[in-house]
Amino acid sequence: MTDILRRGRLGATDDEVDGFLSSFGSDRRIFGADIDVGRAHVVTLAECGIVSEDDARAILGALDEVEEGGFDALDGTHEDVHPAIEAEVVERVGEDTGGRLHTARSRNDEVATCIRIALRDEIIGCMRDVLALRSALVDRAEETDDYLVSGYTHLQRAQPTTIGHHLLSYDAALERDFGRLADAYGRVNESPLGSAAFAGTSFGIDRERTAELLGFDRPTRNSMDGVASRGFAVESVSSALNASVTLSRLCEDLVLWSSHEFGIVEFDDAYASTSSIMPQKKNPDTAELARGKTATVHGALTATVTNLKGLPSAYNRDLQEATGRIWEAFDAARSSCRVLAGVIDTAGFDRGSARATVEDGFVGATELADTLVRETGIAFRTAHHVVASVAEQTDKPTADDVRDVFREVTGDALELDDERLENALEPRGCVESHDSYGAPGDEGLVDEARDALEADMDTLNSLEEDLELSEEMLNEAVEEIR
Ligand code: ARG
Repeated sequence: MTDILRRGRLGATDDEVDGFLSSFGSDRRIFGADIDVGRAHVVTLAECGIVSEDDARAILGALDEVEEGGFDALDGTHEDVHPAIEAEVVERVGEDTGGRLHTARSRNDEVATCIRIALRDEIIGCMRDVLALRSALVDRAEETDDYLVSGYTHLQRAQPTTIGHHLLSYDAALERDFGRLADAYGRVNESPLGSAAFAGTSFGIDRERTAELLGFDRPTRNSMDGVASRGFAVESVSSALNASVTLSRLCEDLVLWSSHEFGIVEFDDAYASTSSIMPQKKNPDTAELARGKTATVHGALTATVTNLKGLPSAYNRDLQEATGRIWEAFDAARSSCRVLAGVIDTAGFDRGSARATVEDGFVGATELADTLVRETGIAFRTAHHVVASVAEQTDKPTADDVRDVFREVTGDALELDDERLENALEPRGCVESHDSYGAPGDEGLVDEARDALEADMDTLNSLEEDLELSEEMLNEAVEEIR
């Protein structure tokens, strides 16, 4: 007999099965939401004449006490937070009263509503964290908008830009990431409450009312969809992932720039670590971890989508397993955003080392070709041949080098004064002349970034105001019954 058989029982112990079934661990995140869902539900039951005002009053009082006791005071042996809260209510006011809380609802619509409420807060928090990072990026960009640095493609020196322009590229990407979160919010903010198990209820409930009291824009349109769908989670986590991917690229640039070879950025001590064996080292660990956490967010999205794929309607317990992934994703994305805001805010940018990346490597090659096209009327492809031949000979050409090669390739003398040629070859002139919209020489970039930041701040504030208003409305409805 194997050991397993000798123990007298196959498989898990009862405790292990209970633990397997339980979502208590991740339900901490929806404790506050479930209390509010209980409040809005019982208020509406009373308003609709489904429970008496006396019972509603008693239940509301019990919910206040449960809230005050906090999540840790709950009996964690329940399958999840919902029966644990209901049990506390029943213990306080008796089953004939407390037992009416769950009239016309199911854990299926209850949990879906709770997740949406808690997720709303995460999305709003994430939007705020993104704004903090953007604000740091814009501030530092303003300070470094004349720090010349080479931009890279294929990690090869390409064309000169400025550190400011480089930093603003991340602000621009994060502006879209912010917009994605805001869009997801709109679809998260619908209330499944009242869908009950999936087929609604024969009680005369008012789904518009519970939706309004909980700050939702509207009830979900179909009761089966309300409990079965988690598309809102996929969309939210995917928005968090988009932001994380943006962060991971910023991190990679910071890690490269902080290397001895580049020496363009120095992390503040608070955001760096040293080596346990190599005392000279200052490692950009915060940026590396933020880069690594992108994998956590990606994993959460993959797990969520995989969980949902092919599930039969309506509620299935698999869904419980997806909920924790939402929180993991937002924890990872949000902490990365906040830490990177600090990294950017405190980083030291080295003008000299940045400048060194445009001193050689012929980063003015494109501008030289463009200048030849503009000033002599030759085709761009011909100019490309000329400059490629110059580049074969030297990575720091003089005006005379260009003249010689021009004659060799085209057979003609180059009719262009030295000043124009040198301006094309000089990184500063090159950057300043690149003043097309959005380019490093566009002087309006910082102002435009600030305007976008302010507009997004307004968007965020108005979402928060809406939630505050609904909170007041719920309080008033509760007071009305008291
Ligand atoms: N803990 C469950 C979850 O997170 C709550 C819903 C349980 N519903 C059910 N029919 N067992 O999904």
